[in-house]
Amino acid sequence: MKPKLLITRKLPEEIIDKAEKNFEVIIWDNELTPIPDEVLSEKIEQVDGLLCLLTDNINKEVLNRAKNLKVIANLAVGFDNIDVNSAKRKGIIVTNTPGVLTDTTADLTFGLMLATARRMVEANNFIKKGEWGSWSPFQLTGNDVHNAKLGVIGMGRIAQAFIKRAKGFDMDICYFNRSRKIRLEEKFGIYFKPLEDLLITSDFICLFIPYTKDSHHMISMAELQKMKKNAILINTARGGLVDEKALYKALIDKVISGAGLDVFENEPINSDNSLLNLSNVVSLPHIGSASEKTRLKMAHISVDNIYSVLYEKKPVNEV
Ligand code: GLV
Repeated sequence: MKPKLLITRKLPEEIIDKAEKNFEVIIWDNELTPIPDEVLSEKIEQVDGLLCLLTDNINKEVLNRAKNLKVIANLAVGFDNIDVNSAKRKGIIVTNTPGVLTDTTADLTFGLMLATARRMVEANNFIKKGEWGSWSPFQLTGNDVHNAKLGVIGMGRIAQAFIKRAKGFDMDICYFNRSRKIRLEEKFGIYFKPLEDLLITSDFICLFIPYTKDSHHMISMAELQKMKKNAILINTARGGLVDEKALYKALIDKVISGAGLDVFENEPINSDNSLLNLSNVVSLPHIGSASEKTRLKMAHISVDNIYSVLYEKKPVNEV
């Protein structure tokens, strides 16, 4: 008998076909709506594996319903949607999809930084609304990215890929991380700064750290007030790293100059979220890794991760 696998969202046919070769697949076959909590709790009782998304809250209560579950493969590199400690206590292996989405996410982050700095979305709206009367010397002027001071928070794979791109723009790059990375400092010609110094001196501050209890609201009003008036905050990591109320106030009061956000504290955000009404905010719906190729690779890896636990008894990409 094949092991049972619950997949919590509609995925491309080639992924389902692959999964069905080795598993009895139960799928929440909906593309846009997450599996409801009560359906998840009911279905999880019977299955050996779970392929889930960052929109699924795999908390202790859900895990307690599972009787046979041995592996959870999150279709993401981040895994703050899963209570990993509770899973471990129950002997359930949790895996993610590192590596394959690094460059795709770094590309998006760089694009978001450029778009925010050069007010591209605002300019796009301006022209489409028919407001472009004449070329004018100081119309829609923004901030330069080349030669600017970049502060990178975190030094994982995506941060490093982002730094490679920033080097091509001759940016002056410093970073803050829990531990210093001397080899990377030499490799990239970057330097370590304590967080406060980084906040005080950077023109662009980009977040690349995981969301945990400790990193919750690591950017709040006190941190925003340390930033330069022309500073731009870029977040493609997790929304909970930033206190959005404080950010809104800082943007309204011109404490900093702009923000590029691909992630939010509560996703999906409503169109009446006050941040969306600010012209100096560029907002994206959590699409950092969303290239066709990368999302497909992530889905393949998730199925492979489940296979390696349930068939080969050797976990790959365990978090
Ligand atoms: C996306 O945010 C991911 O963690 O993969």
